Amino acid sequence: MFNTMTTTKTAAALIGSLLTMLLLFWAGSALFHVGPAEGSHGDEPVAQAYSIPVESSGGGEVEAEEEQIDFAALMEAADPASGEKVFGKCRACHKVDGSDGTGPHLNGVVGRAVAGADGFSYSDAMVAHAGEAPEWTPEALQEFLADPKGVVPQTKMVFAGLPKPQDRADLVAYLQSTQ
Ligand code: HEC
Repeated sequence: MFNTMTTTKTAAALIGSLLTMLLLFWAGSALFHVGPAEGSHGDEPVAQAYSIPVESSGGGEVEAEEEQIDFAALMEAADPASGEKVFGKCRACHKVDGSDGTGPHLNGVVGRAVAGADGFSYSDAMVAHAGEAPEWTPEALQEFLADPKGVVPQTKMVFAGLPKPQDRADLVAYLQSTQ
């Protein structure tokens, strides 16, 4: 009885420690396998996690810069005569003789205060926009003209926008000549 118990206990202890060792070994090898695997997996997401924001923010800055540089360059090469033709799309609502129509007069609009034509009844949206961007710089104009409702969402200017940057540059050059 005693002997059997001892044998059983010893066997149990042996099996137990063998099992423990096996478990430890397995756990160890699992750790070692998981370790490098996680490391190599880990490296990639980490590398991506760093590269994605860096790439996108870097790219965004470069794009924004390029756009600005492009527009400045387009402005330098802009042709007011072509801009006058582009202004044909605006004439239904805008005049350049100092009088307002559906839209405010646009002579002298370059450098003018946003919502700054005296006596014209602007939308609340355009008045609010003046708080954010007070002056119609060439840059502000070309941005607005690219996508009026994108820049001033509730504007009452019903115009889809001028998709071609060169058209916008020519137009701004023309408007500049109407000071
Ligand atoms: C269908 C009529 C219409 C057309 C077409 C139109 N506009 Fe307008 N525009 C308006 C109205 C109305 C406003 C006033 C917007 C407001 O108060 O929200 C306005 C406002 C503006 C302003 C802001 C002026 C200020 O004093 O703050 C600019 C700049 C402008 N238009 C440029 C243009 C140009 C350039 C074109 C042609 C490419 C054009 N618009 C075509 C009706 C028009």
